[in-house]
Amino acid sequence: MTASRSTSTPTRSTASAENPFAAGCAWIEGEYVPIREARIPILDAGFVRSDLTYDVVGVWEGSFFRLPDHMARLEAGLRRIRLRSPVSRNQIHEILFELVRRSGLREAYVETVVTRGVPAPGERDPRQGDPRFYAYAIPYVWIVRPEQQEVGTQAVVARETVRIPPDAVDPRVKNFHWGDLVRGLFEAYDRGGWLPILTDGRGLIAEGPGFNVFALVDGRLMTPRAGVLEGITRKTVIELAREAGLSMSVGDLPVASLYRATEVFFTSTAGGVMPVTMLDGKPVGDGRPGPVTMNLRSRYWDLHRDPRYNLPVDYS
Ligand SMILES: Cc1ncc(COP(=O)(O)O)c(C=O)c1O
Repeated sequence: MTASRSTSTPTRSTASAENPFAAGCAWIEGEYVPIREARIPILDAGFVRSDLTYDVVGVWEGSFFRLPDHMARLEAGLRRIRLRSPVSRNQIHEILFELVRRSGLREAYVETVVTRGVPAPGERDPRQGDPRFYAYAIPYVWIVRPEQQEVGTQAVVARETVRIPPDAVDPRVKNFHWGDLVRGLFEAYDRGGWLPILTDGRGLIAEGPGFNVFALVDGRLMTPRAGVLEGITRKTVIELAREAGLSMSVGDLPVASLYRATEVFFTSTAGGVMPVTMLDGKPVGDGRPGPVTMNLRSRYWDLHRDPRYNLPVDYS
C-alpha cells in the first residue's frame, strides 16, 4: 500500500451526523468532549508560557502506529523539561484508544499534551506547577496531500529565518515554540514555495514545520543528527533504509549538499514520506519523485499493516 491509497481520507470519516465525536474527540479534565467544544483554561502555563511537551501518533486503518515509541518520546520530553504527567502511561493508553473509539475515525491524528498547568495566583515558580493532561483525536492530517506527494512538493531553504537554537529550546522535546517555523512558512510563501527548510544559521540543515528532512547525496541518504526532533517517521525511514542496505548517514547535512541532492523528502506522522521535487524554484534531480524516496514511502505505508508496529482499536 502507498499513501496515494488515501481512499480513506479523513473527510469521509467525519461525515456521520449521529456521532457528536465524528469530527474529533478531546479529553479535557476527565471528560470526553466533541472537539469543537474542547477548551483549555486561559491561564494554563502551556498557553501563556508554552511550558509543555506533546506528542502526535497516527492511527491508520484502525490501528495506532508505533504507539510505544511515541509514548517513550513523550516521557523522555517530560523528563527533560522536569514535568510529570498527572496521568499514568496506562491511563494515557486507555484515553487515547477511547478517543479514537468514540470518534469512529479509522485514520486519525492523535495528540497528547502535558502542560505545567494553571499556577496559583501570582505564582511564577515553575516548580510549583500543577501539571495538566489533554488529549484529542481528529481526522488524519497531511502536511502534503497524497495526490501532491505523487508529483512532489515545493520547498525553499529559509534565508531570513533560522531554527531556534537547541541550547535555547531543545528540539528533541516536542514543543509549541513555533515562532521560527511559522515565520519560515511565510518566508516560503513569499518566495513562491509551499514549505520551508530551516537551517541552524551556520550552514547546516535542521528541519521544517512539522517534519524532518532527508536528502540523497552522491548515492548516500543523509538526515541531520542534531538540532531536530527525533521524529518517529525519521526513525522508521532510517530503519527501512538500513534494512534495504542503503548507505545512510545520520550526521551533519550541509545546505550545500542539499542543493546537490538528487532526491529530497520530508518525513512526519502527518503525511509519512513526502517527496520534494522543487527546491528554491529549481527541480530536484529530474524534477520528479525519485525511486529511493518512492520505495521508502511505499515500504513505510506497508509497515502500517505489520502487527509488530500496530495496535488495533476496538471500535465496538
Ligand atoms: C519540528 C518537528 N520535526 C519533525 C517532526 C516529525 O516527527 P514525527 O515523525 O514523529 O511525526 C515533527 C512532528 O510534528 C515536528 O513538529
